[in-house]
Amino acid sequence: MLEALPRLLDDPILGLAAACRADPNPGKVDLTVGIYMDEQGVCPVFDAVRQAQRLLIEAETTKAYMPPAGDASFNSGMQQLVLGEGSEALRTGRVSSVQTPGGCGALRIGAEVINAAKPGARVWVSDPTWPVHIPLLGSVGLQFETYRYYDASSHGVDFEGMVADLKSATRDDVVLLHGCCHNPCGADLSIEQWAVIADMAEQQGFMPFVDIAYQGLGDGLDRDAAGLRLLVDRLPEIIVAASCSKNLGLYRERTGATLFICNDSSSAQALQSQALVAARRVYSMPPAHGALIAGRVLTDATLRLSWESELQGMCRRINGLRSALREKLELAADRDFSFIEHEKGMFSFLGLSGEQTRRLRAEHSVYMLDSSRINVAGVNAANIDTLARAVGQVLGH
Ligand SMILES: Cc1ncc(COP(=O)(O)O)c(C=O)c1O
Repeated sequence: MLEALPRLLDDPILGLAAACRADPNPGKVDLTVGIYMDEQGVCPVFDAVRQAQRLLIEAETTKAYMPPAGDASFNSGMQQLVLGEGSEALRTGRVSSVQTPGGCGALRIGAEVINAAKPGARVWVSDPTWPVHIPLLGSVGLQFETYRYYDASSHGVDFEGMVADLKSATRDDVVLLHGCCHNPCGADLSIEQWAVIADMAEQQGFMPFVDIAYQGLGDGLDRDAAGLRLLVDRLPEIIVAASCSKNLGLYRERTGATLFICNDSSSAQALQSQALVAARRVYSMPPAHGALIAGRVLTDATLRLSWESELQGMCRRINGLRSALREKLELAADRDFSFIEHEKGMFSFLGLSGEQTRRLRAEHSVYMLDSSRINVAGVNAANIDTLARAVGQVLGH
């Protein structure tokens, strides 16, 4: 039965990371996969996570299944983290959520609920978007339309194009938005632009589906969620897919949540029940370890303080790297790279061609995606000069 199945190609991003690992050059530079790396090139475990994990293991008495919706402290901690402690939606009880295997699981469960409400619904995605959005949502049966988003010539958001395209989104449609730190381009909407999207959603009736996988790594936990919270304050229905991979460093523990913010509490409960039935079809119960850790970090005052301060340090480091990279690249290549400093989060397109990125790999062992997306957090004091020199050389300097 199975022997006729062909071998499929590796995921392009993971394939490139594997090629970098196999490169024997000790001076190689890996800017491929979107994980936070510190100055030593290590993806660190937060102190608060380490402590919560120790407490968890010491106190653990069972490995029985988690409840289908996941851990209660985790769910309430995530609702407050994403929506803010003073959230009117939380106060009035019009929010429900389920714990999911990572942000990917959160997106998938959101897609399942959308498809249950409107089979084959059209989802508007930004051009470009994180490539995994397409199989994650598309395999449920949702259809896609794209809206203009990144303008390569200005290295910023083509907001006029976005608005013009989203004029065609109707009350039967979903608009997928990146909550902050857009992957892959790093260009985010201003709060005024979020307000325009809220006006359009109000007038046209489309539903926002917000993917927030980098809260805390752009401008801080609250500022990164400000656009999303503005939508929540203004609109009757929103689905949010949140991930704890990056901001709690729980990548391999597969920790995330889907939040349903509805008109009233009975709709919020109805959507949670839909999500639980969808999860039962796919994986039944969510994994325990990461969510129990995250729930503890989010709700214990001491751990929370420690986590927030470490996260702020990461955010500051990324923004410092953005300034340093701008300066080094401008010196090496004699062109404007100021956009790197204005973008948010871990990603940026350097504006190189596919041919130039292949030369960077072949001639300099500098690995970035063919689109020239880099993981800014992969830059450090030891590799920034190699990177800048190599980019300068492929740009003809
Ligand atoms: C935009 C975006 N959404 C969601 C995710 C999901 O992350 P995870 O499933 O690892 O929590 C990622 C991870 O890279 C991402 O970049």
